[in-house]
Amino acid sequence: MALPDARPGTVVLVTGASSGIGEELARQLAALGHDLVLIARRADRLDALASELRDAAKVDVDVHPCDLGDAPSRASLIAGIVTGPHARPIAGLCNNAGFGLAGPAARLDPARQRQMIRVNVEALHDLTLAVLPGMLDRGEGAILNVASVAAFQPLPNFATYSATKAFVQTFSEALHAEVQDEGVSVTSLCPGPVPTEFGEVAGLRGEGAPAGSSVPSLAYVSAHDVAAQGIEGMVRGRRSVIPGAVHTALALSGRFTPRSLLLPLVKRFG
Ligand SMILES: NC(=O)c1ccc[n+]([C@@H]2O[C@H](COP(=O)([O-])OP(=O)(O)OC[C@H]3O[C@@H](n4cnc5c(N)ncnc54)[C@H](OP(=O)(O)O)[C@@H]3O)[C@@H](O)[C@H]2O)c1
Repeated sequence: MALPDARPGTVVLVTGASSGIGEELARQLAALGHDLVLIARRADRLDALASELRDAAKVDVDVHPCDLGDAPSRASLIAGIVTGPHARPIAGLCNNAGFGLAGPAARLDPARQRQMIRVNVEALHDLTLAVLPGMLDRGEGAILNVASVAAFQPLPNFATYSATKAFVQTFSEALHAEVQDEGVSVTSLCPGPVPTEFGEVAGLRGEGAPAGSSVPSLAYVSAHDVAAQGIEGMVRGRRSVIPGAVHTALALSGRFTPRSLLLPLVKRFG
C-alpha cells in the first residue's frame, strides 16, 4: 500500500484545497482519518473548510495560505511544513493546484501564461522533490499529481496549459517507475472536464470565451468522483488514473493518433 492508513502525527498535504477537486480531495482524505495541511491563496475558504473537517471528521487540519506561483513564498512554505524542524512526516501529497487559460497563446497575456507554468509545473516539481526523500527514508508515501486528459495531445487554444500537463504526466510516470519498488508511489490523475471554477478562471465561460469552447454536460465527471478515484489510485499505488471510460478512450486516441491527423480535429472541435 502506497498511501499508508491514517496515523496520528502524519499528515497529507493538499494544494488547491480552496475549491473544486482539491476541496473534494481534502474532504475524502479527512473522512479516511488523515490529518491535513491545506494550501491555496484564499485563506478564508481554507479556514472554513478546515473548521468543517475538524468538526465532521475529528482530524487535525492546518491551513497555509500561499501563492504557489511565487518562488519565495513556496520556499518558505516548504521550509515550514516539509523540511523544517517542526515538520511532521508526510504520508501523502496531492499536487492539485493549477489553472488553465483558453485562447491562442499569441493573444493571451504572457505574464499569466508564465504564472501558469510556475503554478502547474514549478510548484508541483518543488513540492514533489521536497517530500520524496522523507517518503523514501520511511519506505512509504503517496504523491498524487493532477494532470489532465490535456496531457495526452497538444491542444490548440490551450497550448501552454496542455504543455504544462504533459510535463506533469511525463514527470509523474517516470518518477513512479523510479520509486515504486521502495514503497512510494506517484500517481498521475488525468481528468477530463470537471464542473469546478476551472472554466471561469480559464475564460471558457462568459464574454471573450473562444467559440466552440462549451463542453457537453455528459462529458463531465464530478469533482467528488475524480477525487475518489485519485485517492483510490494513491491507496493502490497506481501510476496513472483517468476517470471515466470516455476520457480513457480519448486519452488513448490522443496518445496514438498521428499528430498530422489529430491536430486539425482538435483545433476544430476541441
Ligand atoms: N476542472 C477541469 O475540467 C479540470 C480538468 C483536468 C484537470 N484539472 C486540473 O485539476 C486541478 C484542480 O482544478 P479545479 O478543476 O478544481 O479548478 P478550481 O476549482 O479553479 O481550483 C483550482 C485550485 O487551485 C488553486 N490555485 C490556483 N492558483 C494558485 C496559486 N497561484 N497558488 C496556490 N493555489 C492556487 C486555487 O486556489 P486559490 O484561487 O484560492 O489560490 C484552487 O484551490 C488543476 O490542476 C486543473 O488543471 C481540472
